Amino acid sequence: MQYKYKVAVVTMSDKGAAGQRTDQSGPLIKEIMEATGYALCMETVLIPDDYETIKATLIELCDQKKYDLILTTGGTGLSERDVTPEATLAVAHRNVPGISEYMRHKSFEITPKAMLSRGVSAMRNKTLIINLPGSPKAVRENLEFILPALKHGLDIMTGRDGECAR
Ligand code: MTE
Repeated sequence: MQYKYKVAVVTMSDKGAAGQRTDQSGPLIKEIMEATGYALCMETVLIPDDYETIKATLIELCDQKKYDLILTTGGTGLSERDVTPEATLAVAHRNVPGISEYMRHKSFEITPKAMLSRGVSAMRNKTLIINLPGSPKAVRENLEFILPALKHGLDIMTGRDGECAR
Protein backbone atom coordinates (compact mmCIF):
# COMPACT_ATOMS: atom_id res chain seq x y z
CA MET A 1 0.00 0.00 0.00
CA GLN A 2 1.23 3.48 -0.84
CA TYR A 3 2.56 5.56 2.05
CA LYS A 4 0.30 8.48 2.88
CA TYR A 5 2.01 11.68 3.86
CA LYS A 6 0.75 13.37 7.01
CA VAL A 7 -0.57 16.80 6.15
CA ALA A 8 -1.65 19.65 8.43
CA VAL A 9 -3.47 22.72 7.17
CA VAL A 10 -3.18 26.03 8.98
CA THR A 11 -5.48 28.93 8.13
CA MET A 12 -4.31 32.37 9.22
CA SER A 13 -7.31 34.64 9.63
CA ASP A 14 -8.13 37.13 12.36
CA LYS A 15 -11.79 37.12 11.32
CA GLY A 16 -11.95 33.35 11.01
CA ALA A 17 -10.40 32.80 14.42
CA ALA A 18 -12.84 35.31 15.93
CA GLY A 19 -15.81 33.49 14.41
CA GLN A 20 -16.64 36.41 12.12
CA ARG A 21 -15.91 34.54 8.88
CA THR A 22 -16.22 30.90 7.83
CA ASP A 23 -12.92 29.40 6.75
CA GLN A 24 -13.40 28.00 3.25
CA SER A 25 -9.75 27.68 2.26
CA GLY A 26 -8.67 25.25 4.98
CA PRO A 27 -11.39 22.67 4.19
CA LEU A 28 -10.71 23.13 0.46
CA ILE A 29 -7.01 22.33 0.91
CA LYS A 30 -7.96 19.23 2.92
CA GLU A 31 -10.31 18.09 0.17
CA ILE A 32 -7.78 18.66 -2.62
CA MET A 33 -4.91 16.99 -0.77
CA GLU A 34 -6.94 13.92 0.15
CA ALA A 35 -7.95 13.56 -3.49
CA THR A 36 -4.27 13.14 -4.43
CA GLY A 37 -4.31 9.69 -2.86
CA TYR A 38 -0.86 10.11 -1.28
CA ALA A 39 -1.77 12.65 1.38
CA LEU A 40 -3.82 12.25 4.50
CA CYS A 41 -4.94 15.52 6.04
CA MET A 42 -5.01 14.85 9.74
CA GLU A 43 -5.59 18.29 11.13
CA THR A 44 -6.89 21.70 10.10
CA VAL A 45 -6.09 24.59 12.40
CA LEU A 46 -7.55 28.09 12.39
CA ILE A 47 -5.48 30.78 14.08
CA PRO A 48 -5.29 34.58 14.06
CA ASP A 49 -2.68 36.49 12.07
CA ASP A 50 -0.40 36.70 15.07
CA TYR A 51 3.35 36.22 14.61
CA GLU A 52 4.01 34.38 17.89
CA THR A 53 0.91 32.17 17.54
CA ILE A 54 1.89 31.20 14.00
CA LYS A 55 5.45 30.37 15.05
CA ALA A 56 4.32 28.29 18.04
CA THR A 57 1.72 26.45 15.94
CA LEU A 58 4.23 25.60 13.20
CA ILE A 59 6.84 24.41 15.71
CA GLU A 60 4.33 22.12 17.42
CA LEU A 61 3.13 20.66 14.11
CA CYS A 62 6.74 20.05 13.00
CA ASP A 63 8.48 18.97 16.21
CA GLN A 64 5.81 17.27 18.32
CA LYS A 65 3.31 16.06 15.73
CA LYS A 66 5.89 15.43 13.02
CA TYR A 67 3.81 16.29 9.99
CA ASP A 68 5.47 15.73 6.62
CA LEU A 69 3.75 18.72 5.06
CA ILE A 70 2.15 21.86 6.43
CA LEU A 71 0.09 23.95 4.03
CA THR A 72 -0.74 27.40 5.31
CA THR A 73 -3.31 29.72 3.80
CA GLY A 74 -3.61 33.47 4.28
CA GLY A 75 -1.50 36.22 5.71
CA THR A 76 0.87 36.43 2.76
CA GLY A 77 -0.15 39.87 1.50
CA LEU A 78 0.90 43.41 2.29
CA SER A 79 -1.32 44.37 5.20
CA GLU A 80 0.19 45.02 8.59
CA ARG A 81 -1.28 41.77 9.97
CA ASP A 82 0.09 39.62 7.09
CA VAL A 83 3.06 37.97 8.82
CA THR A 84 2.81 34.33 7.72
CA PRO A 85 6.03 34.43 5.61
CA GLU A 86 8.03 36.04 8.42
CA ALA A 87 6.79 33.51 11.00
CA THR A 88 7.50 30.64 8.61
CA LEU A 89 11.06 31.79 7.93
CA ALA A 90 11.63 32.33 11.65
CA VAL A 91 11.04 28.61 12.35
CA ALA A 92 12.65 27.30 9.15
CA HIS A 93 16.01 25.60 8.79
CA ARG A 94 16.19 25.59 5.00
CA ASN A 95 14.58 27.63 2.25
CA VAL A 96 12.85 25.88 -0.68
CA PRO A 97 12.36 28.92 -2.93
CA GLY A 98 11.43 27.15 -6.18
CA ILE A 99 7.99 26.13 -4.96
CA SER A 100 6.91 29.70 -4.21
CA GLU A 101 8.71 31.06 -7.29
CA TYR A 102 6.77 28.64 -9.47
CA MET A 103 3.44 29.46 -7.80
CA ARG A 104 3.94 33.17 -8.44
CA HIS A 105 5.24 32.58 -11.96
CA LYS A 106 2.22 30.48 -12.95
CA SER A 107 -0.20 32.74 -11.07
CA PHE A 108 0.93 35.75 -13.13
CA GLU A 109 -0.74 34.05 -16.09
CA ILE A 110 -4.03 34.36 -14.21
CA THR A 111 -3.70 37.67 -12.36
CA PRO A 112 -1.05 40.37 -11.93
CA LYS A 113 -2.13 40.46 -8.28
CA ALA A 114 -0.06 37.29 -7.89
CA MET A 115 2.88 39.60 -7.20
CA LEU A 116 1.17 40.63 -3.97
CA SER A 117 1.61 37.25 -2.32
CA ARG A 118 4.85 37.14 -0.33
CA GLY A 119 4.44 33.44 0.51
CA VAL A 120 7.54 31.31 1.13
CA SER A 121 8.31 27.60 1.19
CA ALA A 122 10.78 26.15 3.66
CA MET A 123 11.77 23.09 5.65
CA ARG A 124 12.01 22.60 9.39
CA ASN A 125 13.76 19.29 9.96
CA LYS A 126 11.75 16.86 7.84
CA THR A 127 8.64 18.98 7.50
CA LEU A 128 7.94 21.00 4.37
CA ILE A 129 5.98 24.21 5.00
CA ILE A 130 4.32 25.94 2.06
CA ASN A 131 2.50 29.28 2.31
CA LEU A 132 -0.52 29.61 0.04
CA PRO A 133 -2.49 32.85 -0.39
CA GLY A 134 -5.77 33.18 1.46
CA SER A 135 -8.64 33.00 -1.02
CA PRO A 136 -10.17 29.66 -2.05
CA LYS A 137 -9.56 30.62 -5.69
CA ALA A 138 -5.87 31.23 -5.08
CA VAL A 139 -5.60 28.03 -3.03
CA ARG A 140 -7.11 25.93 -5.80
CA GLU A 141 -4.95 27.50 -8.50
CA ASN A 142 -1.69 27.31 -6.59
CA LEU A 143 -2.17 23.72 -5.45
CA GLU A 144 -2.87 22.72 -9.02
CA PHE A 145 0.49 24.19 -10.03
CA ILE A 146 2.60 22.49 -7.38
CA LEU A 147 0.89 19.12 -6.93
CA PRO A 148 2.62 17.44 -9.91
CA ALA A 149 6.06 17.86 -8.28
CA LEU A 150 5.08 17.81 -4.63
CA LYS A 151 5.02 14.05 -4.00
CA HIS A 152 8.51 13.67 -5.44
CA GLY A 153 9.75 16.44 -3.14
CA LEU A 154 8.19 14.73 -0.13
CA ASP A 155 9.68 11.39 -1.20
CA ILE A 156 13.15 12.94 -1.37
CA MET A 157 12.79 14.91 1.87
CA THR A 158 11.67 11.90 3.86
CA GLY A 159 14.15 9.51 2.24
CA ARG A 160 11.44 7.37 0.65
CA ASP A 161 12.98 7.99 -2.78
CA GLY A 162 16.54 9.07 -3.51
CA GLU A 163 16.30 9.02 -7.29
CA CYS A 164 15.52 12.11 -9.37
CA ALA A 165 16.22 10.72 -12.85
CA ARG A 166 12.85 9.15 -13.48
N1 MTE B 1 -2.61 33.81 -6.78
C1 MTE B 1 -3.49 33.18 -7.57
N2 MTE B 1 -3.09 32.11 -8.28
N3 MTE B 1 -4.79 33.58 -7.67
C2 MTE B 1 -5.24 34.67 -6.97
O1 MTE B 1 -6.44 34.97 -7.08
N4 MTE B 1 -4.67 36.46 -5.37
C3 MTE B 1 -3.60 37.42 -5.03
C4 MTE B 1 -2.31 36.77 -4.59
N5 MTE B 1 -2.08 35.51 -5.25
C5 MTE B 1 -4.31 35.37 -6.12
C6 MTE B 1 -2.98 34.88 -6.05
C7 MTE B 1 -4.00 38.45 -4.08
S1 MTE B 1 -5.32 39.39 -4.56
C8 MTE B 1 -3.32 38.72 -2.92
S2 MTE B 1 -3.68 40.10 -2.01
C9 MTE B 1 -2.20 37.86 -2.48
O2 MTE B 1 -2.25 36.61 -3.18
C10 MTE B 1 -2.07 37.64 -0.97
O3 MTE B 1 -3.19 36.98 -0.43
P1 MTE B 1 -3.33 36.74 1.16
O4 MTE B 1 -3.00 38.03 1.86
O5 MTE B 1 -4.76 36.31 1.33
O6 MTE B 1 -2.38 35.65 1.56
